[in-house]
Amino acid sequence: MSRFGDSSTEGSVVSRRIQEDFGDDVSVLSTTGESSWRITIFKVALGLFFIGACTAAIIYSVNKAEAKRAEHGVNHTKGFLPYDLTQKGEGYVHIFMQSPDYRVNNTPTYSYPVEWLQEANNKRIMYKVGHGEHLQYALYLTATAGYNQTHSGCSKIGMVYDDFFDAMGLKYVQLRTKEQIKVDEEMEDAYVYEGEPTSTAKFFGYGPSLVRGYSNIDQDRLWAFELFFYASTPYFKIEHWLPEMGANDESSSVLDAIPKECLN
Ligand SMILES: *[C@@H]1O[C@H](CO)[C@@H](O)[C@H](O)[C@H]1NC(C)=O
Ligand SMILES: *[C@@H]1O[C@H](CO)[C@@H](O)[C@H](O)[C@H]1NC(C)=O
Repeated sequence: MSRFGDSSTEGSVVSRRIQEDFGDDVSVLSTTGESSWRITIFKVALGLFFIGACTAAIIYSVNKAEAKRAEHGVNHTKGFLPYDLTQKGEGYVHIFMQSPDYRVNNTPTYSYPVEWLQEANNKRIMYKVGHGEHLQYALYLTATAGYNQTHSGCSKIGMVYDDFFDAMGLKYVQLRTKEQIKVDEEMEDAYVYEGEPTSTAKFFGYGPSLVRGYSNIDQDRLWAFELFFYASTPYFKIEHWLPEMGANDESSSVLDAIPKECLN
């Protein structure tokens, strides 16, 4: 008997708990009128509110995605390596000659400091390899004239501004991917471009087989480019690394840099 008594007590506790925990459901199920309607309306309203909120969230995220895409669209439509830029900077050219052990000892055969000064609007560039006593050569190119300065003097050459980028293999190199590269000791996002250079590409007489270039995300700085050569040539790889490329504030003009001896 005491067992029945106990269990009935338990039962009532359980049912009381159920009523406490699921009180609302219990009253919805009850057919008696007004409060059940109010709750139904409340639930429908709540449902509509959630649907509204979800729709708003979806619309918001779609808009945001579109805005982002549009923002990218404005500046990131350049599917090719940007090279016709107004910029200046210093860096290095590393020349790797063909060698059976270049993979083991991947250090350049020659390295020279490079100075780069470029005006896109005026179509002028100064490209200087080595400096002072160690000057290898310096090119001063405008839209219509070109000069090559070396230790032994300065001579007029046939190359002009546009030809320079042909020769370097920088034209029509396709955007491939985004990578983080080390620029000035910091990791920065960079676009990576890669492709087969046009047949006009010639570095010291040899056509590279592959070009890889790196720009900043705004695509207004050329940070680096690498030319790879066929095994039948003396070169393995020529790498330009210009991590300090910055804005050319227009106060520096290539015209001012051309040595007088070139203009004689
Ligand atoms: C897009 O490019 C313009 C002009 O080059 C620049 O002023 C602007 O800041 C760039 N916008 C973004 C989001 O990078
Ligand atoms: C400039 O002169 C150097 C040294 O003579 C030479 O190696 C280089 O090919 C010349 N560059 C051009 C574009 O004429």
